[in-house]
Amino acid sequence: MTPENFDAVDVIAAKRDGHRLSTAQISWVIDAYTRGVVADEQMAALAMAIFINDMEPGEIADWTQAMIASGERMDFSSLSRPTSDKHSTGGVGDKITLPLAPLVAVFDVAVPQLSGRGLGHTGGTLDKLESIPGWRAELSNAEILHQLEDVGAVICAAGSGLAPADKKLYALRDTTSTVDCIPLIASSIMSKKIAEGTAGLVLDVKVGSGAFMKDLDKARQLARTMVDLGTAAGVKTSALLTDMSTPLGLTVGNALEVRESVEVLAGGGPSDVVELTVALAEEMLRLAGRTDVDVREALADGRAMDAWKRMIRAQNGDPDAPLPAAEHTEVVTASETGVLSRLDALAVGVASWRLGAGRARKEDPVQAVAGIELHAKPGDQVSAGQPLLTLHTATLERFGRAVEALEGAVEIGGDTSGLRDSVVFETIT
Ligand code: URA
Repeated sequence: MTPENFDAVDVIAAKRDGHRLSTAQISWVIDAYTRGVVADEQMAALAMAIFINDMEPGEIADWTQAMIASGERMDFSSLSRPTSDKHSTGGVGDKITLPLAPLVAVFDVAVPQLSGRGLGHTGGTLDKLESIPGWRAELSNAEILHQLEDVGAVICAAGSGLAPADKKLYALRDTTSTVDCIPLIASSIMSKKIAEGTAGLVLDVKVGSGAFMKDLDKARQLARTMVDLGTAAGVKTSALLTDMSTPLGLTVGNALEVRESVEVLAGGGPSDVVELTVALAEEMLRLAGRTDVDVREALADGRAMDAWKRMIRAQNGDPDAPLPAAEHTEVVTASETGVLSRLDALAVGVASWRLGAGRARKEDPVQAVAGIELHAKPGDQVSAGQPLLTLHTATLERFGRAVEALEGAVEIGGDTSGLRDSVVFETIT
Protein backbone atom coordinates (compact mmCIF):
# COMPACT_ATOMS: atom_id res chain seq x y z
CA MET A 1 0.00 0.00 0.00
CA THR A 2 1.42 3.44 -0.94
CA PRO A 3 1.81 5.71 2.07
CA GLU A 4 -0.45 8.76 2.20
CA ASN A 5 1.19 12.21 1.73
CA PHE A 6 -0.60 13.83 4.66
CA ASP A 7 -2.46 13.00 7.80
CA ALA A 8 -6.14 14.08 7.98
CA VAL A 9 -5.77 15.09 11.63
CA ASP A 10 -2.98 17.56 10.73
CA VAL A 11 -5.04 19.09 7.92
CA ILE A 12 -8.07 19.50 10.22
CA ALA A 13 -5.88 21.03 12.96
CA ALA A 14 -4.33 23.51 10.50
CA LYS A 15 -7.76 24.81 9.45
CA ARG A 16 -9.06 24.70 13.02
CA ASP A 17 -6.16 26.98 14.00
CA GLY A 18 -6.95 29.42 11.18
CA HIS A 19 -4.09 28.60 8.78
CA ARG A 20 -4.20 28.58 5.01
CA LEU A 21 -4.23 25.03 3.64
CA SER A 22 -1.62 24.40 0.94
CA THR A 23 -2.52 23.31 -2.59
CA ALA A 24 -0.99 19.90 -1.86
CA GLN A 25 -2.95 19.47 1.37
CA ILE A 26 -6.21 20.37 -0.38
CA SER A 27 -5.69 18.14 -3.37
CA TRP A 28 -4.75 15.26 -1.05
CA VAL A 29 -7.67 15.66 1.35
CA ILE A 30 -10.28 15.77 -1.44
CA ASP A 31 -8.73 12.82 -3.25
CA ALA A 32 -8.35 10.80 -0.03
CA TYR A 33 -11.94 11.58 0.96
CA THR A 34 -13.19 10.39 -2.46
CA ARG A 35 -11.15 7.17 -2.01
CA GLY A 36 -12.58 6.65 1.49
CA VAL A 37 -9.20 7.12 3.21
CA VAL A 38 -10.38 10.29 4.94
CA ALA A 39 -13.44 9.29 6.99
CA ASP A 40 -16.78 11.11 7.00
CA GLU A 41 -16.25 12.34 10.58
CA GLN A 42 -12.87 13.81 9.61
CA MET A 43 -14.31 15.59 6.58
CA ALA A 44 -17.20 16.82 8.75
CA ALA A 45 -14.71 18.33 11.20
CA LEU A 46 -12.80 19.95 8.35
CA ALA A 47 -15.99 21.36 6.81
CA MET A 48 -16.93 22.85 10.18
CA ALA A 49 -13.42 24.34 10.56
CA ILE A 50 -13.80 25.92 7.09
CA PHE A 51 -17.27 27.15 8.04
CA ILE A 52 -15.85 28.88 11.11
CA ASN A 53 -12.46 30.08 9.80
CA ASP A 54 -13.29 30.68 6.10
CA MET A 55 -10.94 30.14 3.17
CA GLU A 56 -8.80 32.56 1.16
CA PRO A 57 -9.56 32.95 -2.58
CA GLY A 58 -6.55 30.78 -3.45
CA GLU A 59 -7.72 27.99 -1.16
CA ILE A 60 -11.22 28.10 -2.66
CA ALA A 61 -9.71 27.82 -6.15
CA ASP A 62 -7.55 24.86 -5.06
CA TRP A 63 -10.56 23.19 -3.40
CA THR A 64 -12.61 23.65 -6.58
CA GLN A 65 -9.84 22.24 -8.80
CA ALA A 66 -9.42 19.24 -6.49
CA MET A 67 -13.16 18.48 -6.69
CA ILE A 68 -13.07 18.76 -10.50
CA ALA A 69 -10.10 16.37 -10.54
CA SER A 70 -12.07 13.80 -8.52
CA GLY A 71 -14.11 12.91 -11.62
CA GLU A 72 -14.51 13.23 -15.37
CA ARG A 73 -14.68 16.43 -17.46
CA MET A 74 -17.01 16.75 -20.37
CA ASP A 75 -15.79 18.22 -23.62
CA PHE A 76 -18.07 20.07 -26.03
CA SER A 77 -15.31 21.39 -28.27
CA SER A 78 -16.43 19.12 -31.14
CA LEU A 79 -19.79 20.95 -31.39
CA SER A 80 -20.36 23.31 -34.30
CA ARG A 81 -21.81 26.00 -32.00
CA PRO A 82 -20.67 27.69 -28.79
CA THR A 83 -22.01 26.56 -25.41
CA SER A 84 -23.53 28.69 -22.68
CA ASP A 85 -25.23 27.51 -19.49
CA LYS A 86 -27.05 28.90 -16.47
CA HIS A 87 -27.03 27.86 -12.85
CA SER A 88 -29.47 29.04 -10.21
CA THR A 89 -28.61 28.84 -6.54
CA GLY A 90 -32.16 27.62 -6.01
CA GLY A 91 -35.50 29.16 -5.23
CA VAL A 92 -39.24 28.70 -5.00
CA GLY A 93 -41.16 28.57 -8.28
CA ASP A 94 -37.86 28.82 -10.16
CA LYS A 95 -38.82 27.15 -13.43
CA ILE A 96 -36.65 29.46 -15.57
CA THR A 97 -34.43 26.70 -16.99
CA LEU A 98 -37.42 25.26 -18.84
CA PRO A 99 -38.19 28.19 -21.16
CA LEU A 100 -34.59 29.47 -21.07
CA ALA A 101 -32.72 26.50 -22.58
CA PRO A 102 -34.83 26.25 -25.77
CA LEU A 103 -34.94 30.05 -26.07
CA VAL A 104 -31.15 30.33 -26.13
CA ALA A 105 -30.91 27.36 -28.53
CA VAL A 106 -32.97 29.35 -31.08
CA PHE A 107 -29.89 31.56 -31.58
CA ASP A 108 -27.50 28.69 -32.36
CA VAL A 109 -25.93 28.62 -28.92
CA ALA A 110 -25.98 25.16 -27.31
CA VAL A 111 -27.21 24.81 -23.73
CA PRO A 112 -25.91 21.80 -21.78
CA GLN A 113 -28.09 21.92 -18.65
CA LEU A 114 -26.93 19.08 -16.43
CA SER A 115 -29.37 19.36 -13.53
CA GLY A 116 -30.32 17.81 -10.25
CA ARG A 117 -33.41 16.80 -8.36
CA GLY A 118 -34.85 18.94 -5.60
CA LEU A 119 -34.07 18.47 -1.94
CA GLY A 120 -35.85 20.40 0.79
CA HIS A 121 -38.07 23.34 -0.13
CA THR A 122 -36.44 24.18 -3.48
CA GLY A 123 -37.74 22.29 -6.49
CA GLY A 124 -35.55 20.33 -8.89
CA THR A 125 -35.63 20.89 -12.64
CA LEU A 126 -35.66 17.16 -13.37
CA ASP A 127 -38.64 16.61 -11.05
CA LYS A 128 -40.54 19.27 -12.97
CA LEU A 129 -39.77 17.81 -16.40
CA GLU A 130 -40.61 14.30 -15.24
CA SER A 131 -44.25 15.39 -14.98
CA ILE A 132 -44.29 15.38 -18.81
CA PRO A 133 -45.50 11.94 -19.96
CA GLY A 134 -42.63 9.80 -21.25
CA TRP A 135 -39.81 12.30 -20.58
CA ARG A 136 -36.49 10.69 -19.69
CA ALA A 137 -33.83 12.40 -17.53
CA GLU A 138 -30.93 9.96 -17.87
CA LEU A 139 -28.80 10.37 -21.01
CA SER A 140 -25.37 9.00 -21.90
CA ASN A 141 -22.58 11.45 -22.73
CA ALA A 142 -22.92 10.48 -26.42
CA GLU A 143 -26.67 11.22 -26.32
CA ILE A 144 -26.03 14.60 -24.71
CA LEU A 145 -23.57 15.56 -27.44
CA HIS A 146 -25.89 14.34 -30.18
CA GLN A 147 -28.86 16.30 -28.80
CA LEU A 148 -26.76 19.46 -28.40
CA GLU A 149 -25.75 19.26 -32.04
CA ASP A 150 -29.21 18.32 -33.27
CA VAL A 151 -31.60 20.36 -31.06
CA GLY A 152 -29.21 22.80 -29.37
CA ALA A 153 -30.49 22.27 -25.83
CA VAL A 154 -30.50 19.43 -23.38
CA ILE A 155 -31.75 19.32 -19.81
CA CYS A 156 -30.80 16.02 -18.21
CA ALA A 157 -29.43 14.38 -15.07
CA ALA A 158 -25.81 15.18 -14.26
CA GLY A 159 -24.01 11.81 -14.39
CA SER A 160 -22.31 10.50 -11.26
CA GLY A 161 -18.93 11.00 -12.98
CA LEU A 162 -18.91 14.80 -12.56
CA ALA A 163 -17.17 15.96 -9.34
CA PRO A 164 -17.98 12.84 -7.27
CA ALA A 165 -16.15 14.42 -4.30
CA ASP A 166 -18.83 17.10 -4.26
CA LYS A 167 -21.64 14.57 -4.26
CA LYS A 168 -20.18 12.93 -1.14
CA LEU A 169 -19.30 16.20 0.56
CA TYR A 170 -22.66 17.84 -0.17
CA ALA A 171 -24.54 14.95 1.47
CA LEU A 172 -22.23 15.25 4.48
CA ARG A 173 -22.70 19.03 4.71
CA ASP A 174 -26.46 18.55 4.58
CA THR A 175 -26.31 16.49 7.79
CA THR A 176 -23.67 18.56 9.63
CA SER A 177 -25.05 22.09 9.26
CA THR A 178 -22.22 23.19 6.97
CA VAL A 179 -24.18 23.93 3.78
CA ASP A 180 -24.56 27.64 4.38
CA CYS A 181 -20.91 28.61 3.83
CA ILE A 182 -19.71 30.71 0.88
CA PRO A 183 -16.40 28.88 0.13
CA LEU A 184 -18.15 25.50 0.25
CA ILE A 185 -21.20 26.60 -1.79
CA ALA A 186 -19.05 28.36 -4.40
CA SER A 187 -16.64 25.45 -4.84
CA SER A 188 -19.50 22.94 -4.91
CA ILE A 189 -21.42 24.73 -7.66
CA MET A 190 -18.41 25.77 -9.72
CA SER A 191 -16.65 22.38 -9.62
CA LYS A 192 -19.71 20.79 -11.26
CA LYS A 193 -20.17 23.57 -13.80
CA ILE A 194 -16.48 23.73 -14.79
CA ALA A 195 -16.34 19.90 -15.07
CA GLU A 196 -19.45 20.07 -17.27
CA GLY A 197 -17.35 21.83 -19.90
CA THR A 198 -19.54 24.82 -20.79
CA ALA A 199 -17.72 27.77 -22.36
CA GLY A 200 -20.04 30.39 -20.85
CA LEU A 201 -21.92 30.39 -17.56
CA VAL A 202 -24.47 32.79 -16.09
CA LEU A 203 -25.17 32.39 -12.38
CA ASP A 204 -28.58 33.32 -11.05
CA VAL A 205 -27.80 34.11 -7.43
CA LYS A 206 -31.02 34.33 -5.46
CA VAL A 207 -31.51 36.77 -2.59
CA GLY A 208 -34.29 36.63 0.00
CA SER A 209 -36.20 34.35 2.33
CA GLY A 210 -36.47 31.48 -0.16
CA ALA A 211 -32.73 31.55 -0.99
CA PHE A 212 -29.49 30.44 0.71
CA MET A 213 -28.44 34.07 0.85
CA LYS A 214 -30.95 36.15 2.78
CA ASP A 215 -29.27 39.53 2.21
CA LEU A 216 -27.81 41.34 -0.78
CA ASP A 217 -24.28 41.72 0.62
CA LYS A 218 -23.88 37.98 1.20
CA ALA A 219 -25.34 37.21 -2.23
CA ARG A 220 -22.91 39.66 -3.82
CA GLN A 221 -20.00 38.00 -2.03
CA LEU A 222 -21.11 34.53 -3.22
CA ALA A 223 -21.57 35.79 -6.77
CA ARG A 224 -18.14 37.48 -6.81
CA THR A 225 -16.46 34.30 -5.51
CA MET A 226 -18.12 32.13 -8.16
CA VAL A 227 -17.51 34.56 -11.04
CA ASP A 228 -13.80 34.72 -10.10
CA LEU A 229 -13.56 30.90 -9.88
CA GLY A 230 -15.16 30.47 -13.30
CA THR A 231 -13.11 33.18 -14.97
CA ALA A 232 -9.85 31.77 -13.53
CA ALA A 233 -10.79 28.35 -14.92
CA GLY A 234 -11.32 29.77 -18.43
CA VAL A 235 -15.14 29.80 -18.32
CA LYS A 236 -16.72 33.13 -19.29
CA THR A 237 -18.79 33.72 -16.16
CA SER A 238 -21.17 36.40 -14.93
CA ALA A 239 -23.92 36.58 -12.31
CA LEU A 240 -27.32 38.17 -11.87
CA LEU A 241 -28.53 38.87 -8.34
CA THR A 242 -32.29 38.24 -8.35
CA ASP A 243 -35.23 38.43 -5.98
CA MET A 244 -36.31 35.36 -4.03
CA SER A 245 -38.32 37.04 -1.27
CA THR A 246 -41.53 35.84 -2.95
CA PRO A 247 -42.04 32.89 -5.35
CA LEU A 248 -41.23 33.41 -9.02
CA GLY A 249 -44.31 33.52 -11.20
CA LEU A 250 -47.71 32.23 -10.19
CA THR A 251 -47.00 28.52 -9.73
CA VAL A 252 -44.89 26.36 -7.42
CA GLY A 253 -44.72 22.59 -7.92
CA ASN A 254 -43.75 20.27 -10.72
CA ALA A 255 -46.56 19.98 -13.32
CA LEU A 256 -47.87 23.44 -12.39
CA GLU A 257 -44.46 24.96 -13.18
CA VAL A 258 -44.24 23.12 -16.51
CA ARG A 259 -47.64 24.57 -17.43
CA GLU A 260 -46.44 28.09 -16.65
CA SER A 261 -43.19 27.56 -18.58
CA VAL A 262 -45.20 26.54 -21.63
CA GLU A 263 -47.26 29.75 -21.26
CA VAL A 264 -43.99 31.74 -21.40
CA LEU A 265 -42.88 29.78 -24.47
CA ALA A 266 -46.24 30.62 -26.06
CA GLY A 267 -45.50 34.33 -25.66
CA GLY A 268 -47.48 34.85 -22.41
CA GLY A 269 -46.80 34.00 -18.77
CA PRO A 270 -46.24 36.14 -15.66
CA SER A 271 -44.11 39.24 -16.15
CA ASP A 272 -41.43 38.33 -13.56
CA VAL A 273 -40.82 34.93 -15.18
CA VAL A 274 -40.61 36.54 -18.62
CA GLU A 275 -38.30 39.30 -17.35
CA LEU A 276 -35.87 36.86 -15.75
CA THR A 277 -35.95 34.42 -18.68
CA VAL A 278 -35.15 37.26 -21.09
CA ALA A 279 -32.42 38.76 -18.86
CA LEU A 280 -30.67 35.40 -18.41
CA ALA A 281 -31.01 34.52 -22.11
CA GLU A 282 -29.49 37.86 -23.16
CA GLU A 283 -26.60 37.38 -20.75
CA MET A 284 -25.94 33.78 -21.87
CA LEU A 285 -26.01 34.91 -25.50
CA ARG A 286 -23.72 37.87 -24.76
CA LEU A 287 -21.14 35.49 -23.27
CA ALA A 288 -21.37 33.45 -26.47
CA GLY A 289 -20.80 36.57 -28.59
CA ARG A 290 -24.43 37.00 -29.77
CA THR A 291 -25.45 40.53 -28.98
CA ASP A 292 -27.56 41.46 -32.00
CA VAL A 293 -30.58 39.27 -31.22
CA ASP A 294 -34.18 39.92 -30.20
CA VAL A 295 -34.95 37.38 -27.52
CA ARG A 296 -38.53 38.52 -26.84
CA GLU A 297 -39.39 38.09 -30.51
CA ALA A 298 -38.39 34.40 -30.35
CA LEU A 299 -40.87 33.92 -27.50
CA ALA A 300 -43.62 35.79 -29.35
CA ASP A 301 -43.24 34.14 -32.78
CA GLY A 302 -43.12 30.48 -31.71
CA ARG A 303 -39.43 29.73 -32.41
CA ALA A 304 -38.70 29.08 -28.72
CA MET A 305 -41.78 26.84 -28.49
CA ASP A 306 -40.60 24.83 -31.51
CA ALA A 307 -37.20 24.34 -29.88
CA TRP A 308 -38.91 23.28 -26.61
CA LYS A 309 -41.00 20.64 -28.41
CA ARG A 310 -37.95 19.27 -30.19
CA MET A 311 -36.02 19.18 -26.90
CA ILE A 312 -38.82 17.33 -25.07
CA ARG A 313 -39.39 14.85 -27.93
CA ALA A 314 -35.66 14.11 -28.16
CA GLN A 315 -35.93 12.71 -24.62
CA ASN A 316 -39.07 10.64 -25.36
CA GLY A 317 -41.46 13.19 -23.83
CA ASP A 318 -44.77 14.16 -25.43
CA PRO A 319 -44.97 17.98 -25.32
CA ASP A 320 -48.61 17.89 -26.47
CA ALA A 321 -49.86 15.38 -23.87
CA PRO A 322 -52.04 16.79 -21.07
CA LEU A 323 -50.15 17.34 -17.82
CA PRO A 324 -51.36 15.47 -14.74
CA ALA A 325 -53.71 17.38 -12.41
CA ALA A 326 -54.34 16.98 -8.68
CA GLU A 327 -57.39 15.14 -7.32
CA HIS A 328 -57.59 17.51 -4.35
CA THR A 329 -57.40 21.30 -4.09
CA GLU A 330 -57.95 23.74 -1.25
CA VAL A 331 -58.20 27.52 -1.48
CA VAL A 332 -56.63 30.01 0.94
CA THR A 333 -58.44 33.37 0.88
CA ALA A 334 -57.44 36.92 1.81
CA SER A 335 -58.35 37.79 5.40
CA GLU A 336 -58.81 41.51 4.67
CA THR A 337 -58.90 44.11 1.91
CA GLY A 338 -55.73 46.02 1.02
CA VAL A 339 -52.44 45.76 -0.83
CA LEU A 340 -50.67 42.41 -0.54
CA SER A 341 -47.40 43.51 1.03
CA ARG A 342 -45.70 40.15 1.58
CA LEU A 343 -46.06 36.57 0.34
CA ASP A 344 -43.10 34.74 1.77
CA ALA A 345 -41.10 32.53 -0.61
CA LEU A 346 -39.78 30.16 2.05
CA ALA A 347 -43.21 29.50 3.57
CA VAL A 348 -44.77 28.83 0.15
CA GLY A 349 -41.83 26.55 -0.71
CA VAL A 350 -42.22 24.57 2.50
CA ALA A 351 -46.00 24.32 2.04
CA SER A 352 -45.58 23.05 -1.52
CA TRP A 353 -42.99 20.56 -0.29
CA ARG A 354 -45.41 19.31 2.38
CA LEU A 355 -48.13 18.91 -0.27
CA GLY A 356 -45.81 16.39 -1.94
CA ALA A 357 -43.93 18.48 -4.55
CA GLY A 358 -40.54 17.94 -2.87
CA ARG A 359 -38.70 15.25 -0.98
CA ALA A 360 -37.18 14.99 2.50
CA ARG A 361 -34.70 12.24 1.55
CA LYS A 362 -33.10 11.93 -1.85
CA GLU A 363 -34.68 8.52 -2.49
CA ASP A 364 -38.26 9.74 -1.81
CA PRO A 365 -40.70 10.02 -4.76
CA VAL A 366 -42.33 13.37 -5.58
CA GLN A 367 -45.88 14.05 -6.72
CA ALA A 368 -46.06 15.59 -10.19
CA VAL A 369 -49.41 17.18 -9.33
CA ALA A 370 -48.60 18.74 -5.94
CA GLY A 371 -47.95 22.45 -5.54
CA ILE A 372 -49.44 25.88 -5.14
CA GLU A 373 -51.03 28.39 -7.51
CA LEU A 374 -50.75 32.06 -6.56
CA HIS A 375 -53.66 34.36 -7.44
CA ALA A 376 -51.93 37.57 -6.34
CA LYS A 377 -48.38 38.86 -5.95
CA PRO A 378 -46.92 41.46 -3.57
CA GLY A 379 -48.04 44.91 -4.72
CA ASP A 380 -51.48 43.68 -5.92
CA GLN A 381 -54.70 45.01 -4.42
CA VAL A 382 -56.76 42.17 -2.86
CA SER A 383 -60.25 42.01 -1.32
CA ALA A 384 -61.29 40.16 1.82
CA GLY A 385 -62.44 36.64 0.90
CA GLN A 386 -60.85 36.50 -2.55
CA PRO A 387 -58.69 33.45 -3.35
CA LEU A 388 -54.98 34.07 -2.70
CA LEU A 389 -53.58 30.57 -3.10
CA THR A 390 -54.84 27.23 -4.39
CA LEU A 391 -53.12 24.23 -2.84
CA HIS A 392 -52.88 21.03 -4.96
CA THR A 393 -52.08 17.48 -3.84
CA ALA A 394 -52.83 13.83 -4.52
CA THR A 395 -52.96 13.18 -0.75
CA LEU A 396 -55.81 14.79 1.17
CA GLU A 397 -54.08 14.40 4.57
CA ARG A 398 -51.27 16.70 3.44
CA PHE A 399 -53.36 19.89 3.53
CA GLY A 400 -53.15 20.36 7.31
CA ARG A 401 -49.36 20.68 7.61
CA ALA A 402 -49.15 22.66 4.36
CA VAL A 403 -51.58 25.25 5.69
CA GLU A 404 -49.59 25.36 8.96
CA ALA A 405 -46.45 26.24 6.95
CA LEU A 406 -48.30 29.23 5.51
CA GLU A 407 -49.04 30.77 8.90
CA GLY A 408 -47.58 34.29 8.94
CA ALA A 409 -46.58 34.04 5.25
CA VAL A 410 -49.17 36.50 3.99
CA GLU A 411 -49.29 40.17 4.95
CA ILE A 412 -51.92 42.61 3.68
CA GLY A 413 -51.68 46.37 4.20
CA GLY A 414 -48.09 46.36 5.49
CA ASP A 415 -45.09 48.38 4.33
CA THR A 416 -44.65 48.15 0.56
CA SER A 417 -41.74 50.58 0.25
CA GLY A 418 -39.23 47.70 -0.09
CA LEU A 419 -41.05 46.11 -3.06
CA ARG A 420 -39.15 46.42 -6.32
CA ASP A 421 -40.45 46.63 -9.87
CA SER A 422 -37.71 44.42 -11.26
CA VAL A 423 -36.78 40.89 -10.27
CA VAL A 424 -33.16 41.48 -11.36
CA PHE A 425 -31.22 43.56 -8.79
CA GLU A 426 -27.78 43.76 -10.38
CA THR A 427 -25.29 42.06 -12.69
CA ILE A 428 -21.78 41.04 -11.67
CA THR A 429 -19.16 40.41 -14.34
N1 URA B 1 -25.95 23.93 -4.67
C1 URA B 1 -24.85 23.15 -4.81
O1 URA B 1 -24.67 22.48 -5.81
N2 URA B 1 -23.97 23.16 -3.81
C2 URA B 1 -24.10 23.89 -2.69
O2 URA B 1 -23.25 23.84 -1.83
C3 URA B 1 -25.26 24.67 -2.57
C4 URA B 1 -26.15 24.69 -3.59
